[in-house]
Amino acid sequence: MEPFRHHLFVCTQAKPEGATSCPGNRSWQVLQALETELCKQGLDDEVQVSTCGCLGLCDDGPVMIVYPEGVWYRKIREEDIAEIVSSHLRSGKVVSRLVWCDQQEMKSEMIEHRDQYRAMVKAKDQAGILPDELNEMIRGFMPSRAVLTALELDLFSAVGNGRSANEVADKVGSDERATEMLLNALASLKLLEKRDGKFLNTAMSARFLSEGSRDNARPGLMHIAHLWDRWSTLTECVQSGTCVERDEREHSDVRDFIAAMDRNAKERAAAVVKAVGVNGIRRMLDLGGGSGAYSIALAREMPNLNSEILDQAEVVPLTHAYIRKAGLEERVTMRVGDMLRDPLGKNYDLILVSAICHMFSAEENRKLFRRVYDALAPHGRVIVQDFILEGGKTAPRFAALFSLNMLVGTRAGSSYSEPEYTEWLQNAGFSDIRRMRLPGPAGFMIGFRN
Ligand SMILES: C[S@@+](CC[C@H](N)C(=O)[O-])C[C@H]1O[C@@H](n2cnc3c(N)ncnc32)[C@H](O)[C@@H]1O
Ligand code: FES
Repeated sequence: MEPFRHHLFVCTQAKPEGATSCPGNRSWQVLQALETELCKQGLDDEVQVSTCGCLGLCDDGPVMIVYPEGVWYRKIREEDIAEIVSSHLRSGKVVSRLVWCDQQEMKSEMIEHRDQYRAMVKAKDQAGILPDELNEMIRGFMPSRAVLTALELDLFSAVGNGRSANEVADKVGSDERATEMLLNALASLKLLEKRDGKFLNTAMSARFLSEGSRDNARPGLMHIAHLWDRWSTLTECVQSGTCVERDEREHSDVRDFIAAMDRNAKERAAAVVKAVGVNGIRRMLDLGGGSGAYSIALAREMPNLNSEILDQAEVVPLTHAYIRKAGLEERVTMRVGDMLRDPLGKNYDLILVSAICHMFSAEENRKLFRRVYDALAPHGRVIVQDFILEGGKTAPRFAALFSLNMLVGTRAGSSYSEPEYTEWLQNAGFSDIRRMRLPGPAGFMIGFRN
């Protein structure tokens, strides 16, 4: 007995540009139409839909197999989906005009495809050609740079509901020819559409990259655009062992950085609140609290909680604006200070150290945790949140790459491993040290003062 009445597999195999493939024939759109239609016809709990790799029938895509019958559909269009759902999945009547009937022909095509694929892999290998995935990794900066430039110029807002390249160039004050080249490249990345010589935002760019949208992420993403410059110095940093000296950060850089932190923190705040546990916490210290997103989330959850944010002079006025907007000025206060040197205070029930340790050297972190221990009340807890590496330091990939982000951006920062955090916490006197698994890339650890 199957857990579902039907199990569907839709091919979504990505192929190099120019090769025929199911996604090239809109299999992702077919999948979307299928999910919508199943809901509409009340079958979403009866029918399980999965994506799958190449089925060897690429010229006839999109291809979909329906189990338990083992019916192979080919050349499906979004317009066919309502009929497949109502006729086949609801009433058991296969839509024969879309079914591959000649099994022998189907098998020959699959074998031919398999043999061609094997011959191509062998020929590439013999010729010593770079594998596609390596090529893609090395050229990965190209799409990234195109999108970052578009963000810097606020191009998606300028495109609005549809403008020609000339009109966009006019609006952002850029060169016409070059702007058209960039807009075309963004359309190739499916971040814009081009119709009758006009460019339009896609649903995704309109929602996340354009002014006026509630979810516009551009302010936070501008921080990534600033990181581009830092990452360009990586070779020099690896040679010298530390970041390249830079001029004072501009106010707009700090604002963009805090906006980026705020976005990340808001995404995780609910999970963090749950993991912290709310019992008996009245006084909290949020070290380097940035936008105050975690203090805000925790204060909302715990009506008796007062939180103090300690941050740098250039950040505290920005923090203040976030706290004021949240209406929590009475219970979330802030002060300027250096967490490595200035007094932290005493008798806190909770000290949050979120996205802090990666800025400092191992020795500075060891010292910081000793100071945190002293600032806690008996049985108080420290929460550490950061990109935590496994013992061997080669995984998770994001934490390993983030370590380079700290190399290019700080004097002695790095991502650190779970054994390192454990050692620092133990060394400071903490007990009951635990790692907790929360969704998302950041790691979460907790320790208690005796
Ligand atoms: C990466 S952000 C993390 C913000 C926040 N904790 C979060 O998780 O979203 C680091 C914060 O630490 C602050 N900071 C850096 N060095 C500091 C220091 N020595 N003393 C106090 N704050 C510091 C920065 O200004 C920034 O707000
Ligand atoms: S890409 Fe779908 S069958 Fe080959």
